[in-house]
Amino acid sequence: MSPWSPQSWRDRPVEQGVAYADEDELERVLAKLRALPPLVTSWEVERLKRLVAEAQEGKRFLLQGGDCAETLGDCRSDVIAAKLKILLQMSLVLIHGARKPVIRVGRFAGQYAKPRSSATEERGGQVLPSYFGDLVNRPDFTPEARRADPRALLDGYSHAALTLNFIRSLSAAGFADLHHPEYWDLDFLSRADLPEGLRAEYKAMTDRLSGALRFLEALGEQTVDELTRVEFFASHEGLNLHYESAQTRAVPRRAGFYDLTTHMPWIGERTRAVSGAHAEFFRGIANTVAVKVGPTARPEEILDLCALLDPRGEPGKLVLITRMGATEVARALPPLVRAVHARIGRRVLWVADPMHGNTVTLAGGVKTRSFDAILREIELSFDVHEAEGTRLGGVHFELTGEDVTECLGGGLSEADLDRRYLSVCDPRLNYRQALEMAFSIARRMARSG
Ligand code: PEP
Ligand code: CO
Repeated sequence: MSPWSPQSWRDRPVEQGVAYADEDELERVLAKLRALPPLVTSWEVERLKRLVAEAQEGKRFLLQGGDCAETLGDCRSDVIAAKLKILLQMSLVLIHGARKPVIRVGRFAGQYAKPRSSATEERGGQVLPSYFGDLVNRPDFTPEARRADPRALLDGYSHAALTLNFIRSLSAAGFADLHHPEYWDLDFLSRADLPEGLRAEYKAMTDRLSGALRFLEALGEQTVDELTRVEFFASHEGLNLHYESAQTRAVPRRAGFYDLTTHMPWIGERTRAVSGAHAEFFRGIANTVAVKVGPTARPEEILDLCALLDPRGEPGKLVLITRMGATEVARALPPLVRAVHARIGRRVLWVADPMHGNTVTLAGGVKTRSFDAILREIELSFDVHEAEGTRLGGVHFELTGEDVTECLGGGLSEADLDRRYLSVCDPRLNYRQALEMAFSIARRMARSG
């Protein structure tokens, strides 16, 4: 195999590559990005890898969630705090159902680059480049906004840094002290749209949880700290390899190269070709890496990818995020699980993304997803893993802590969708839908024991 470097991907075919008109400007920006400090540290990356290794052994569960496309405009305290709160509350519900600690991973602080099914978009006879996320261009339909602008890479970097800074400060300041349910932002829960039953269920759950914590502490149980530590990790699709590779470096006293834009980058469904640029870049980084896997994936190609990304079978290294669709999962998941399990055993964390295989476009052109289909894919994924003797070790959602109207069900019907449809890309679960989803998953996990 040819030698790897942070730039060796440039010799491979780049799916979803960005055409920058001014190469010199791009190189100036990349030189600046290379010189700027990393967004995350190798210690954090290694800590997440240890936690993922424990999840692979069934000792933890992973919750990953956030926007489909994060925007620079949403780099605001209320939006970020709302996202942390819903992830935190979902994680508490899951801890209670699964009876194990939950790793919280946001799709944030860098989820600014989007793959598109078409490189161009046509409106009223005018053809312009598609919107590829705020890391590349802007959504307005004008030639200026749609031009791929290298400076957007620096804007993305600085907004990711601002986001991480706020998240770290909130976590360090006891944003959620799990010993005090009265601080778990219950007034956030008293919002009008939340059904009384859901609110009561959450209240009863947090009361039981805090009672149990006090009991464990009274016994001098060591694990309480671990259980109650509120940590958030960051993740995004590692799509723009200029951005990722500029922040990829060797660090003192550690072997290998770390992609320090985020803790856990993932390869998307459209860019996971084993001979492509993304696989080449990802094979050389020390981070935990995730791969999205859709219903057309052949088991052999996923095995080749696993061998390339994790040749040594390193604990905590590999996460496979399956996104099959509720109608496909029972057919498409078993052969894949069987093949991976036979070849590499438990050294992979299986995560279900029930969003990306369940997108539908309504007659009026609005993209949406149904709560029921999303839940069905999760439940069927649990069933498949149980039947195959493997384990579903995590879930991956597009969600927001705000009251958007993008997905159907959980109180919303088609007529509601245009009320507050804010996503610039795929439809997200809103606050209530996300919390209800967590309770449904927790009940399922409590049943399986
Ligand atoms: C996404 O996670 O927003 C996405 C584009 O997913 P996938 O690569 O699975 O289609
Ligand atoms: Co999406």
